[in-house]
Amino acid sequence: MKDSELLALLKNMTLEEKIGQLSQAGNGDILKYEGAPLPTMTENDLTWEQLISSGSLITGGAMHAEDAAFMQRRFRTETRHGIPTLFMADIIHGTRTIMPIPLAQACSFNEALVEEGAAVAAEEAASAGIHVTYAPMADVIRDPRWGRSMESFGESPQVCGRMSAATVRGFHSKGMATCVKHYVGYGAVEAGREYSPVDISHTELFNTYFPPFQAAVDAGCDMVMSAFTPIDRIPATANKWLLDDVLRKRMGFDGAVITDWGCVRELPVHGVAGDNKEAAYQAFKATTDIDMMTFVYLRELKQLVEEGAISEEEIDQAVLRVLRLKNKLGLFEDTFEALNNERQQECYHLESHLETSLKSALQSCVLLKNDGALPLKKGQTICLCGDHAETHELLGGWSSNGQISETESLLEVFERHGAILESSPELCDVIVYAVGEIQKQTGECKSKAHPELTAAQLAELRSLRQCGKPIVMVLFTGRALIISDAEPYCNAILNAWFPGTKGAEAIWQLLSGEVNPSGHLAVTMPRTVGQIPIHYDSMPTGRPNTKTRKACLNKYVDEVNEPLYPFGFGLSYTSFELHDVKVEGCISEGQNAILTATIENIGSVSGTALVQAYGRMRRSIQTVPIKTLLDFVRVPLAAGEKKTVSIELNRDMLTTYDCSGEKVLPHGTCDLLLGFDSAGGWNASVEV
Ligand code: GLC
Repeated sequence: MKDSELLALLKNMTLEEKIGQLSQAGNGDILKYEGAPLPTMTENDLTWEQLISSGSLITGGAMHAEDAAFMQRRFRTETRHGIPTLFMADIIHGTRTIMPIPLAQACSFNEALVEEGAAVAAEEAASAGIHVTYAPMADVIRDPRWGRSMESFGESPQVCGRMSAATVRGFHSKGMATCVKHYVGYGAVEAGREYSPVDISHTELFNTYFPPFQAAVDAGCDMVMSAFTPIDRIPATANKWLLDDVLRKRMGFDGAVITDWGCVRELPVHGVAGDNKEAAYQAFKATTDIDMMTFVYLRELKQLVEEGAISEEEIDQAVLRVLRLKNKLGLFEDTFEALNNERQQECYHLESHLETSLKSALQSCVLLKNDGALPLKKGQTICLCGDHAETHELLGGWSSNGQISETESLLEVFERHGAILESSPELCDVIVYAVGEIQKQTGECKSKAHPELTAAQLAELRSLRQCGKPIVMVLFTGRALIISDAEPYCNAILNAWFPGTKGAEAIWQLLSGEVNPSGHLAVTMPRTVGQIPIHYDSMPTGRPNTKTRKACLNKYVDEVNEPLYPFGFGLSYTSFELHDVKVEGCISEGQNAILTATIENIGSVSGTALVQAYGRMRRSIQTVPIKTLLDFVRVPLAAGEKKTVSIELNRDMLTTYDCSGEKVLPHGTCDLLLGFDSAGGWNASVEV
């Protein structure tokens, strides 16, 4: 439809019809209604005409394609203008074929693979009739107590931005729209406690929390979801500075903003609105377009317009953003006849989708420790044990329509590959101890005050240790679980996160050495809860904990400062070395420098290294992080092979922002680290 036709349609709509486009209902109601008032209608005092005017519906990956077509026909035939509805869903890391959780995918440091996984998810979701995913989740996280760590791409603003943009590209490649969330700062909830308030300075917003959303907007993200949490003590949904001044005017976002679930109705609970009518006014004036699942907009906006508190032109602007998204997706021309349950099931089980899931899991698992116990040797007898040895629940939270019945367990995969299993840990050659948190403990409403292995798991590990056999721990977790008490008992540790539909197969291929691990941590793994928050790009102190001074230093009296495993860390079955680190040129406006080195695989098997470049200006008008991740590149190398790796350095990588969001351009010397994780020392510098 031409934009002029959209404007003509808008002109012909009544105020009620327009407001309907700004309201999101559940798809179940539209499916079920047969004339008798539904609970949703009685509870919210809604007529069917109001409900069927909903501009969008929230649904899920379990929706049947033909049900979607039926509902669209209802919108087409039971409303005056026949405006189709938008189906939106949480397609976070897969629809039916489930990829590893986003936190795991980030550990692949492979944007193309994240994009490929998103494309698979989109193809399957589109076959169900879904138009928009509530993804990517671009929240930076630094607290493993928060259950939604699993949904994030980790602690690095750079990695979160690049993986969020890759997710947008992946969904767009299959014609699906994306809704980046949760704008902004939800990952910084106080004490990692779900839905707690956040308190983030503007400097921190501009330097850490806004950039991943800017990256998603720059990648063409279609919608933005406001977070449950406040900024400057104003909930995001009613925060005009956040939504209008920053998101729309500064970041250049021109799409629709939707609230998170129920946020409009929570404004009175936050204590910033006296009632739902005031809540509707505040959210709308902040430029929140769509009210998710409270029907407050549907019930209050009309009166606010009639009273002149909100103009119909303002309503039109919001409605146009919704109609233009529908138009961009071709909904006005779509007959929805192509939606077919059989075709949907075929799409849900494509071999190529399972291959992507396997590839993603292979590159997402992180080898944290290995004293030679891995790879497993042919002919070894294996005692496979632990609470995750036989479970099929390897998908993690937010796994949409993923079926655990279609997910192999580790035991099934070991048996399928002919592993020689020995039930007695005393009699086997090697113990594979599969342990971690259960997938129901990951995701929303899953914060933990004790993000650790349980006492029972540790006791089991200690008793296994008595058997005197090498122990390979395979860890399943949706967060940077604290495993420092377990680490000394393990000869090897593979962090598998929640690896998705083909996760068990991937774990077998990695443990057996068929594939060499190449994952690296996208989030620091602390030694203790007491160290939280702990991340590679923390801000400097005037009293760093250097060994040269004995006086009062930046440290604990009862714990070291260093994490158990630093951001960027990951082992391989081979070893890599970097030689001849050099810098060519200097950095200035429009001129980049090149950081080069020779990388060599000095081991006996091929592998993929992750070369990471970090930097820090020696001096700046305001403090900068002790390390900033500048870039990263995966480098596959055969045994003995050497390659030259080069990373281009530009000024934007070192540009920061002051509290008003003004750029602070770097001038002077920048120390550089080119290495295989964030813990190394500087080994080059460049003039800026
Ligand atoms: C949930 C989540 C959000 C999700 C939305 C719709 O509460 O916070 O991430 O997209 O509601 O399910």
